[in-house]
Amino acid sequence: MSNRQNCDSGSLSPLELYERVTTQGDKVRSLKAAEAPKDEIDTAVKLLLSLKLMYKATTGQDYKAGSPPTDFTPINNAPAITEDDDFVDPWTVQTSSAKGVDYDKLIVRFGSSKIDKELISRIERVTGQKPHHFLRRGIFFSHRDMNQILDAYENKKPFYLYTGRGPSSEALHVGHLIPFIFTKWLQEVFDIPLVIQLTDDEKYLWKDLTVEKAYEYAIENAKDIIACGFDINKTFIFSDLDYLGMSPGFYKNIVKIQKHVTFNQVKGIFGFTDSDCIGKISFPAIQAAPSFSSTFPQIFKGKEDIQCLIPCAIDQDPYFRMTRDVAPRLGYPKPALLHSVFFPALQGAQTKMSASDPNSSIFLTDTPKQIKTKINKHAFSGGKDTIEEHRKYGGNCDVDVSYMYLTFFLEDDDKLEQLKQAYTSGALLTGELKKALIETLQPLIAAHQERRKQVTNEMQALAQALIEEDHGE
Ligand code: TYM
Repeated sequence: MSNRQNCDSGSLSPLELYERVTTQGDKVRSLKAAEAPKDEIDTAVKLLLSLKLMYKATTGQDYKAGSPPTDFTPINNAPAITEDDDFVDPWTVQTSSAKGVDYDKLIVRFGSSKIDKELISRIERVTGQKPHHFLRRGIFFSHRDMNQILDAYENKKPFYLYTGRGPSSEALHVGHLIPFIFTKWLQEVFDIPLVIQLTDDEKYLWKDLTVEKAYEYAIENAKDIIACGFDINKTFIFSDLDYLGMSPGFYKNIVKIQKHVTFNQVKGIFGFTDSDCIGKISFPAIQAAPSFSSTFPQIFKGKEDIQCLIPCAIDQDPYFRMTRDVAPRLGYPKPALLHSVFFPALQGAQTKMSASDPNSSIFLTDTPKQIKTKINKHAFSGGKDTIEEHRKYGGNCDVDVSYMYLTFFLEDDDKLEQLKQAYTSGALLTGELKKALIETLQPLIAAHQERRKQVTNEMQALAQALIEEDHGE
């Protein structure tokens, strides 16, 4: 147990470590005051000492009660490389395992918490809704401070949702739908405001795109996002290139964040080098700012203390580790997070589906024929080489991309289980499993395309207008 705690602590930010040392110090004092058994006090003191050592190793400074860390060189915040060579940052996801990234190790490395059965039951109890299949199937697998959000909901305290998209291409791929589908469910369940950031500035800085093209993609992507079916009266979608120039609240928070994060820190978190342009180096503050309600005075009436909940795939976590680190120093609540796994590339779970590799992806603009061809041609199979061998030994769902995709999009639990059993036993062949996936995805994408056609200029204008209702009470 204490090993596990040490391991987790190794992944915490300096501020989180500082808070752990403080809490553990309080615990030791109260155990002593209560004259608890000696072995209990000894265990608590041991943990306190190891946390202090960890704090010193991370910050280079001794822990001092009442003096939170202000400047440090992060050692443990670098992109996640586990012993198995999994690499996860906002731009690259790579592993050598056909089963995909080892998410349990990532939780330890990033210092987040697993979404366990207990939390899922609490979500069900508090909301009175059957948990979404993304929760039931472990697709949203990790969180930060979700219990605080549920406390707020129970105590009728306001909170809001924040998610986003970096418009690097005209069309989204099906992997991008994962956080948006889940965010829509959260908005319905909690009935709360949602802000969606389109980081066209980020894509201009990182990709070979003009500013105009990046903005054009943002407008096109906004239509796909609206087509996901958000409550348009409670949703604000903005392009950074647009909104930053008209919002003093947004810019004030950006400079506040920039003042509290050093170059050393962003180098440690994002792997920037001396030859990266200064636009990239300062960008993380722009993705961090919407986590604070004062960025949107028109929505939250200037209130600075409304907590934010961010659903995203875990590749975006580095931005929000940084955000959570600065939040208390700005007097703002830390945003809570819900992290999803990656929707794998067609070629296998060694990497995520990516819009920059058309063959790895099924796009929301694909025709039924393109969907069928891509799956039949490229979807990595866990089946055996010959029909005879497959019938004898069965297929491997752990590495089969068609099966993985079905876990995301086939909502019927019983049907999914039947397919798994039949494929594993060898009764179902790869071609038949692929057919099941094609028949699941074709209508889903056709329905999305139909909804996208219905997105009118008025709807888009409404989503891009500033929400006027009072959401701060
Ligand atoms: P972007 O455009 O890379 O991705 C948009 C959202 O989709 C998630 N995502 C995926 N989820 C599952 N499987 C995949 N293969 C996959 N690829 C991408 C991302 O985690 C993200 O949630 N910098 C961000 C834009 C952004 C943002 C945010 C995202 C700005 N503010 C707040 C989340 C929350 C970006 O380029 O996302």
